[in-house]
Amino acid sequence: MTAVTDPLTLPCGVSVKNRLVKGAMSEALGTRDHAPRPELPALYARWAEGGTAVLLTGNVMVDARALGEPGNVVLEDERHLAEFHSWAVQGQRDGAQAWVQLNHPGKQAPRGLNAGGTVAPSALPFSGGMARAFETPRELTVTEIHELSARFARSARLAQQAGFSGVQLHAAHGYLMSQFLSPRHNVRTDEYGGSLDNRMRFLLETFSAVRAAVGPRFPVGVKLNSSDFMRGGFSEEDSLRVVQALGERGCDLIELSGGTYEKPMMMLGQGERGGFFADFSRRARAVAGVPVCVTGGFRDAATIRSAVANGTADLVGLGRPLVADPAFSRQVLSGKDASSDVHPLRTGIRPLDRSSYLEIAWYEDAMRRLARGESVKAGETPLLALARISAEMGLGAVLRRRRA
Ligand SMILES: Cc1cc2nc3c(=O)[nH]c(=O)nc-3n(C[C@H](O)[C@H](O)[C@H](O)COP(=O)(O)O)c2cc1C
Repeated sequence: MTAVTDPLTLPCGVSVKNRLVKGAMSEALGTRDHAPRPELPALYARWAEGGTAVLLTGNVMVDARALGEPGNVVLEDERHLAEFHSWAVQGQRDGAQAWVQLNHPGKQAPRGLNAGGTVAPSALPFSGGMARAFETPRELTVTEIHELSARFARSARLAQQAGFSGVQLHAAHGYLMSQFLSPRHNVRTDEYGGSLDNRMRFLLETFSAVRAAVGPRFPVGVKLNSSDFMRGGFSEEDSLRVVQALGERGCDLIELSGGTYEKPMMMLGQGERGGFFADFSRRARAVAGVPVCVTGGFRDAATIRSAVANGTADLVGLGRPLVADPAFSRQVLSGKDASSDVHPLRTGIRPLDRSSYLEIAWYEDAMRRLARGESVKAGETPLLALARISAEMGLGAVLRRRRA
């Protein structure tokens, strides 16, 4: 039986020291010109010292003209390699690995954030309330699609040069790669749309370009949705076939999540106690042939240990529990009973409680506290966190934020 403390050798030959992963959480700690701020190395030092084997950075954008939110870090050239290097060094304390999550938002970028508008596989707006917050994108040309794969590859190579130990492509949560996978958002009639083979072409070509750029011995992972939870969207059956294709190409780690801004299941799940995507993870692991990580909703040590022991996944990803306590992994690894006190945030102000601003503001503020060496105050009213983040970033920026 596999224990959460067991090391694991990835297909590329690199070994990770245990089965716990810190999921990507966007820190919004980029400078005005999108370099990593000094809080990032400080924050990652705390996470690395907390015992977690692999630390995924919050999403780092591959194109400064395509931000997903204010405060994004961008890695597209050599300008800020020194700052990225400090971040990489601190994230690898105590034998931890630090991987950069690379992302492009496609059309899932707040209206007005990117001066040149947004691009996507097809020129389709979001439906419902989201149509107001996100503009209608322009359809990418085939040449631009090829350029984007090259852009991901260049960013991956830069992450490697900066000293990070791996990269992860963000193909989940409704961003560009996820838009290509979904038949709701991709209605192209060329080789990048239509059949699932065509819809997954951009992801697979990008994976191959990244692999070629970083070489065979550098970890390259992918974060993928189990499903978009939308009728006519990317389904579990589609996802299983993508998992299989990534496995055949030697993806080092497939991290499973689910949902998009339209249906934020990655944050909410469906009320399961054993992790939001555990059932799907079992099915995916059976066809992957490469290590699988499942992320979302894991709160207590016993459940995490049994997910590894019973073959739900090879690794378990933790997001919010590691903000509440950056050393929560130590308790999981120690074999003790422990539970993370992550719970939905409420103010009693209905419109605020129904939106995601509070949750995002609270976790961003908490990550800043961790970076300053403080502890996170679980009992404090979330309105204070919202006030502090608004004071730092401007209320307009906070209200233009993402949902996950
Ligand atoms: C503040 C915040 C920011 C997030 N940013 C990202 C991100 O940049 N990339 C990503 O793949 N997931 C992101 N997520 C989702 C997490 O990686 C994870 O899938 C989700 O929080 C569920 O895990 P948990 O229940 O352990 O928190 C974010 C979550 C939070 C709370």
